[in-house]
Amino acid sequence: MAISSATTAFCSSLLCSTAISSSSSPTTSSFQFKFKFPAKSLRSPSPAVTQAYRSSIPSTNGGSAQNQFWFRRGLLFTATLPFLLSPYESFEESLSKAAELGRGEYQLMKDELKKVVSKGKAAGVLRLVFHDAGTFEMNGDSGGMNGSIIYELDRPENAGLKKSLKVLDKAKSEVDAIRAVSWADLIAVAGAEAVSLCGGPSIPISLGRLDSTEPDPEGKLPQESLDASGLKQCFQRKGLSTQDLVALSGAHTLGSKGFGDPTVFDNSYFKILLEKPWTSSAGMSSMVGLPSDRALVEDNECLRWITKYANDQNLFFEDFKKAYIKLVNSGARWRSL
Ligand code: HEM
Repeated sequence: MAISSATTAFCSSLLCSTAISSSSSPTTSSFQFKFKFPAKSLRSPSPAVTQAYRSSIPSTNGGSAQNQFWFRRGLLFTATLPFLLSPYESFEESLSKAAELGRGEYQLMKDELKKVVSKGKAAGVLRLVFHDAGTFEMNGDSGGMNGSIIYELDRPENAGLKKSLKVLDKAKSEVDAIRAVSWADLIAVAGAEAVSLCGGPSIPISLGRLDSTEPDPEGKLPQESLDASGLKQCFQRKGLSTQDLVALSGAHTLGSKGFGDPTVFDNSYFKILLEKPWTSSAGMSSMVGLPSDRALVEDNECLRWITKYANDQNLFFEDFKKAYIKLVNSGARWRSL
């Protein structure tokens, strides 16, 4: 029947909200955190958050008791909607209602992230995405965009990411106070917000990733000492093409590796790669880029993409967007919808 799949799907999506919060509890492994996981606020959500949520339910003439009434009523409505859907409603109508509610969750996350992710913090937040998702390999059954980074912060390759996660923890507490969200979803959306905040493309992110309850296997992220062929193979094992490798490496336009303004997301990474400043002994030029960045220009296939992106920022933005979506979906397990 038309109703059943969409309604069942939506019900399970609500049920999964609970599953997310329980599945993201910390394990008693050696990976201990200084801040609590899952991020849960014991206090009431901030007025700004509740206000944003209230705007989706009927407005009142003011008065806190009345506001409380409508707020509770809104929550009740949201929780019971799946059971109220008409058996005669079409599958598309049910789906669009579910999508509408999903959009509310997305907006809520974006609103809270905007409050904590500044341009100065954008690079670290974007790097967090790669370090969570980049553990995926197609021939394994672990790794990927699953929030496991929260258990992996003490690994040497993740040095410096604790503070980026802490930035996001504030946003997660606010969102969780209204509706539980997975770390995997929050990090994926945060990276996209960081990119657009710094002038990059706007990237739509699907929601519904489930969090892992344990760390991913070690040694899956590419080492900065790899040559182009090693980088290409590493990305291929993750289901990412050479084009994806080059486009995603363009993320290094953010941060302090010498590719233009550290807080501006543009195609200066590719323009500067073509100049090979590290071959000059002048000033700080020899410090520009990581060995892995420099290796890309030495490979003909990579060089073709680097040249295209250096000449056409729109093409870079378009390809970065596609590759980013692949990255944040890789290895993800989804709540059913
Ligand atoms: C191609 C393989 C890659 C390697 C070997 C690599 C390695 C590194 C290393 C060693 C750093 C410097 C960390 C530090 O300053 O201590 C770095 C920074 C960074 N990486 Fe990558 N990375 C790679 C790909 C990516 C991808 C795919 C993304 C995101 C889509 C990314 C995002 C970033 C960002 C934004 C920074 C700057 C962080 C900051 O300044 O706080 N990286 N990367």
